[in-house]
Amino acid sequence: MSATLKDKPGTSDYYGALKSRAAAIEARYRSLTPRSQALFERAGKVFPGGFTRDAILRAPYAPFVVKAQGTTMTDADGRRITDMWFNATSLPLGHAHPKVVAAAQRQVPLGTAYFAPTEHELALAELLKERVPCAQRIRFANSGSEAVMMAIRFARAHRGRSLIVKFEGSYHGSYDDVSWSVSPSPERVGPELAPVPVADTAGLASAEQRVAVLPYNNPEVLREYVARNHDSIATILVEPMANRLGLILPDPAFVRAARELCDRYGIVLIFDEVIAFRVGYHGAQDELGVYPDLVTLGKIIGGGFPVGAVAGKAAILEASNPDHASRVAHAGTFNGNPMVGVAGLATMSELTPEVFGQINGLGAYVRQKLQALCEGLPLQVTGAGSLFKVTATSRTIRNYRDAAQADKKWEQLASLALLNEGFMLTTTLSGCISAVTTHAEVDAFLAAFDSVANA
Ligand SMILES: Cc1ncc(COP(=O)(O)O)c(C=O)c1O
Repeated sequence: MSATLKDKPGTSDYYGALKSRAAAIEARYRSLTPRSQALFERAGKVFPGGFTRDAILRAPYAPFVVKAQGTTMTDADGRRITDMWFNATSLPLGHAHPKVVAAAQRQVPLGTAYFAPTEHELALAELLKERVPCAQRIRFANSGSEAVMMAIRFARAHRGRSLIVKFEGSYHGSYDDVSWSVSPSPERVGPELAPVPVADTAGLASAEQRVAVLPYNNPEVLREYVARNHDSIATILVEPMANRLGLILPDPAFVRAARELCDRYGIVLIFDEVIAFRVGYHGAQDELGVYPDLVTLGKIIGGGFPVGAVAGKAAILEASNPDHASRVAHAGTFNGNPMVGVAGLATMSELTPEVFGQINGLGAYVRQKLQALCEGLPLQVTGAGSLFKVTATSRTIRNYRDAAQADKKWEQLASLALLNEGFMLTTTLSGCISAVTTHAEVDAFLAAFDSVANA
């Protein structure tokens, strides 16, 4: 199994240098954030582990935030933090953008949720239909997880088959049938070309007949598997920018193979663009030139409010019509509520091709500069569009087995050291640029990264 391969000799000395300063880095963090520490202790009495969503977990505790404007968050201790992750990439205009605030403020006194449709959700859906090449019809949900769950339900109903093909290392939210082999431990993953599905959480029913896990970026294995099992496969679910593998775009041959196989065997191709939609004005499908049958959206389309959407071919989504023979039920108290309608529309309207050019240009700049800073170090810089990531491995990342080589402890410590310097990325050193991010902020971040990586 390739996950047992080691990075080149000498890398452990490199990672060890930062790790030897772990206690000092943590002590500094604690000294800067006493109020957050007290709040975290209070939170431990009500939230298991002290937090209520896994993604924000960081050791020893996350800074509690009291307000945010533009790129700057202010924590409970009054520290100013430059945000370089923007609530998991979901705020492309930064925090509290004046146009989004104005739209939300206009709507609040008019009511935030009705048991009736509004023109706001319609306008947002029309905008998305314009932007997303495969979107002939749309249904809103309240999160990316729900959007993925609904897309799978539509695909299963459309084909009358149950099996999902997903790829090792891909995260598609917290729905049971996709919570397999997201970040499996290297001891349990099995052979590289025939991965064993590993549950990402306790409490899942068996993967059998529901989920198959294949290696990302391997068209040969995909072809061989689908040729043998196509009678059972409802959908091939692809992340067209693999977040946990390093925000990498897939090899074109891989996504083209997925498209061809779906056409040949009548399988529904789903692209999960909950993050990847941020990669360009028309999303990842247009960047790749490969168009799915269904796409799942979330994050940026809600203007900072909870949102998800499934869009795609009318022939598939029309199953949610009440008089459809094999009806797909789709309810949701807050689906398409007016807050998400107005804030989403305000945000998406600001995201012109020029703004995408600006944020993607700064994304390319930060990746190029990081690359230069990481020259000769066992650190890998990846990413696409406005997104970037540094992974603590010298191995080129194409799939989960490559990404699993990373020294996670080094990444986590580097992230904490950057937080001490006033920059927030994820604990795995993923970051993104928003329209409010300035060149000066990026240069200050690069200087801080240099001081951590080249100390
Ligand atoms: C590719 C992908 N799909 C689905 C989800 C789930 O979205 P949500 O957190 O809104 O449920 C995420 C969240 O990060 C994601 O990155």
